[in-house]
Amino acid sequence: MLGAQAQERAQAGAQQILPLHSDEDVVRLRKQVRDSMVAMGFGLIEQTKIITAASELARNTLRYGGGGEARIARVSDGARQGLELRFVDAGPGIDDIPLALTDGYTSGGGLGLGLGGAKRLADAFHIDTAPGAGTTVTIAKWKLF
Ligand SMILES: Nc1ncnc2c1ncn2[C@@H]1O[C@H](COP(=O)(O)OP(=O)(O)OP(=O)(O)O)[C@@H](O)[C@H]1O
Ligand SMILES: [Mg+2]
Repeated sequence: MLGAQAQERAQAGAQQILPLHSDEDVVRLRKQVRDSMVAMGFGLIEQTKIITAASELARNTLRYGGGGEARIARVSDGARQGLELRFVDAGPGIDDIPLALTDGYTSGGGLGLGLGGAKRLADAFHIDTAPGAGTTVTIAKWKLF
């Protein structure tokens, strides 16, 4: 599955990598996600959903992952085009993914709505993590024609 995704990325063009180490980086990411979505022809509602999801995931990268990076890529499955966003950190990882996804669960005094909210706002959602091995959260939004 990851191999196929890498292949799709190669076909659709290079990915952009943005550092995530400060609040300013989150602001820059939001602008870049918006620009990418506008360029692909996504509407305002879709832009708002994915910018919101990206903000939540970027804040998790900062807060729990100790910082990292966001990777933005146009992807295609042959029939559809989409935008894929990947949030990568080398932090402590998540040892119980279902718990982390539970609305209201937080280990850091938040609302515990970020991960579940991002999952609901995106068309695709995947967490790749292991204790001590960092976390990568991937979301995608497909363009409907
Ligand atoms: N990148 C990450 N690395 C390690 N743990 C994470 C990461 N992202 C999320 N988590 C864990 O998952 C929990 C739930 O995340 P979620 O974003 O849903 O809530 P929150 O960040 O605690 O609060 P909110 O986002 O609503 O302010 C976090 O409290 C944290 O324990
Ligand atoms: Mg959060």
